[in-house]
Amino acid sequence: MANKTDVKLENLQRPSAEQLYADELAELAKADAGQARPGGWRLTPKSVLKFIAGDEAKGKPAKFVGSRALLERCIVALATNRGLMLIGEPGTAKSYLSELLAAAISGDSTLIVQGSAGTTEDNIKYSWNYALLLAEGPSGRALIPAPLYRGMSEGKLVRFEEITRCPLEIQDTMLSILSDRVMAIPEREDDGRTLFAQVGFNVIATANTRDRGVNEMSAALKRRFNFETIPAIDNLAREMDLVKRESEKMLARAAVPVSMPPDMTELLVTTFHELRTGRTGDGKTLEPLTTVLSTAEAVGVAYAAGIHAYYYADGAINPAHIVHSLLGSAIKDTPDDVKKLRHYFDHVVKERRKGAWPEYYQAREHLL
Ligand SMILES: Nc1ncnc2c1ncn2[C@@H]1O[C@H](COP(=O)(O)OP(=O)(O)OP(=O)(O)O)[C@@H](O)[C@H]1O
Ligand SMILES: [Mg+2]
Repeated sequence: MANKTDVKLENLQRPSAEQLYADELAELAKADAGQARPGGWRLTPKSVLKFIAGDEAKGKPAKFVGSRALLERCIVALATNRGLMLIGEPGTAKSYLSELLAAAISGDSTLIVQGSAGTTEDNIKYSWNYALLLAEGPSGRALIPAPLYRGMSEGKLVRFEEITRCPLEIQDTMLSILSDRVMAIPEREDDGRTLFAQVGFNVIATANTRDRGVNEMSAALKRRFNFETIPAIDNLAREMDLVKRESEKMLARAAVPVSMPPDMTELLVTTFHELRTGRTGDGKTLEPLTTVLSTAEAVGVAYAAGIHAYYYADGAINPAHIVHSLLGSAIKDTPDDVKKLRHYFDHVVKERRKGAWPEYYQAREHLL
């Protein structure tokens, strides 16, 4: 059986943050030795922030692009007796931020409960190996710990993704655990009946404001979380940097030696930015699309354009590749949005005469 040491990072489709940034995390932990920190934390809160927000002096870009104040509040919340709830539009890096926080604080971002209509208590707390249960009763060996059990017993952060998609009664199993920090295991005997959370345990939940709303959460559960809303990136230049960097990382992992030229990044990110905010750089108002044009989608479009250019062209991304993948990966099958996109080309893109914009306008024929 493969164990952790023979896993080759380059063979993983998506390595975890603690695998990807193992050296950086080890370096920060070394520098933190002997310094005060919340119980059970691998790093000091200052280093957690540095890991996520980057370090300009050392030329390390931010992994999560957002305000420092927001990040500080998130980190502080995790050191208190409340959980952290990240809410926002799809594709604003809620899951990514929770992964980075868990990797930095606990050295493990893999204790994840995926919330859905079918999530059961077994998926969250624990279940039983029935063969062992029959053979030896509800012993420690027969118990199969789920992420919450592991987080509590190992003193780590547990990530609860899309918590609002779970039925309310399942959300509510979190109530007593978040306030009393104990889990009852009534089947077990003696010492095993109560699991007390180790220091370092806490919960980061994410919820998407487009799907089932946060309003459907019970007031009691809401009270046990600190809420933070993650906004879309509002700075065009920062968004361009991020889209270029992230898409190139993905292309490199796919062994596709293509880079996103600055003028193509500009076309793509400006289009996303303007259609998302409903306003152009020169002050025109636009009709907003129903499709979510998030930064995550922009990265996806750039990645697809790179793959397209590599396999079907000479490896140079051109405006037609951008338009193609805009249609396929972002706009999907909403005819109304295609119409609005065409309107954007006819009224905004057409007027722009500099750089790659005229060629972008020519590529609009693919929208027909
Ligand atoms: N502010 C940001 N900082 C860094 N990366 C971002 C940012 N916004 C979007 N991204 C990009 O989006 C990707 C992650 O999106 P993620 O899946 O975390 O979003 P999400 O908010 O959880 O979406 P959903 O609600 O659909 O689950 C990142 O890998 C990154 O490429
Ligand atoms: Mg998510």
